[in-house]
Amino acid sequence: MTTTNFTIPRSVIWKDDFISLLNQQKLPHVTEYIELKSVEDVWEAIQTLKVRGAPAIGIAAAFGLVIAAHKDSSTTVAEFQRSIKEKRDYLASSRPTAINLVWALDRLIRSISNVQSINEAKTTILHEAIQIQVEDEEVCRLIGEHALSVFKNGDRVMTICNAGSIATAKYGTALAPFYLAKEKDINISVYACETRPVLQGARLTTWELMQAGVDVTLITDNMAAHTIKSKNISAIIVGADRIAANGDTANKIGTYNLALLASAFHIPFYVAAPLSTFDPTVSNGNEIPIEERNPEEVTELNGVRVAPEGVKVFNPAFDITPSELIAGIITEKGILSGNYKEAISTLFPV
Ligand code: MRU
Repeated sequence: MTTTNFTIPRSVIWKDDFISLLNQQKLPHVTEYIELKSVEDVWEAIQTLKVRGAPAIGIAAAFGLVIAAHKDSSTTVAEFQRSIKEKRDYLASSRPTAINLVWALDRLIRSISNVQSINEAKTTILHEAIQIQVEDEEVCRLIGEHALSVFKNGDRVMTICNAGSIATAKYGTALAPFYLAKEKDINISVYACETRPVLQGARLTTWELMQAGVDVTLITDNMAAHTIKSKNISAIIVGADRIAANGDTANKIGTYNLALLASAFHIPFYVAAPLSTFDPTVSNGNEIPIEERNPEEVTELNGVRVAPEGVKVFNPAFDITPSELIAGIITEKGILSGNYKEAISTLFPV
C-alpha cells in the first residue's frame, strides 16, 4: 500500500529515554508535542486525555513502563520485576475501560518473566514496547482493508468519537477504511458525530480526515437520526475500547444510540477493533467497567459554565452496545459476525 498522501502526525513517538506526545487536548488549533519523562507524566497524560483512544493509550503506557524500567535502581532481577509490576499497576489505574492499556502493560511484564539480568530486562521491555507500536500500525492497516470490503463507491458512512490514526499507531480502526479508500480513489463520505462532552469527533476526526482529503461533514450528536434519514447514510462504523466474550462492545458514550438507530433504519452497524481490544475474561458487557469522568466536562463549554451551580451530573465516558445490534466486528483477522461467542472463543482458545 502507498502511504505518500498520509500526513497525519503520530501521537506517540519514542525518543530514546522519553515520549514525545502529540497533545490531543490542544487539537485542532495547536499541534503541540509535549515531553513525558516519568511514569507520573504518562499517567497524567492518559488520565487527562492528552493521549486517548484505546490502542494509543496502550502504546503510551508501554513506553511509560520503559521509562520506569530505565530509571529503576533495583539490584536483583526479582526486585526489578517486583518494582516494574508496581509501576504496571499504577499505569493501569489511569483509565478503567480500554483493555488495550492492561493488554500492552501485561505483554511487557510477560516479556521479562524469564530474563537473566536487569540489563536484559531493560532491553527486552524496550523492544517489546516498540514491537507493540509497529504491530499496531500493521494491524490497523489490515483492519482498514477488511473494513473497506463492506463499503462501496458513493457510500455515506457515519462514525462517532475518534478511532483514527492518532488513536492508534497509524491509520486508526474505524477511520482506516477511509484512508485506504482515498488512496484507491473510492469516494466515501464520512459524517462525524461531534461526540459530547469531550468533542473527539468535532476536534479530532474532522481534523484528521480533512488533512487526508477525505470528505467529512460534522454533525452534533442529536442530529444523527435526521442525518441518517435525510442524507441516506448507508452504514455506521465505530471503534471499541473493550469487547466482551459475547461480542458486547464498550465504546465512546453515544455509540449505543447509533447502534439502535442503525437497527431502526435497517443499515449495518460495524465495530472495527484489533484483537488487543477483546477481553475474553469478561463474559458480557455488564462486566465491563465504565469510566465516569469529571462533571465539569458536562457543565462547562470551553471552561465557561453553562449549567446551574449544584446541578447533579451523570457523565459516563463509554456505553455498551449489545452484540445483537452489531452487523460485524472487523478485526485484523477478518470480519466476525453471527455467533460472536463462538467466533471469539475460536480466536482466544483457553
Ligand atoms: O475517551 P476516549 O477518547 O479515549 O475514547 C476513545 C474511543 O471511544 C475510541 O472509539 C476507541 O478507543 C477506539 S480508538 C481506535
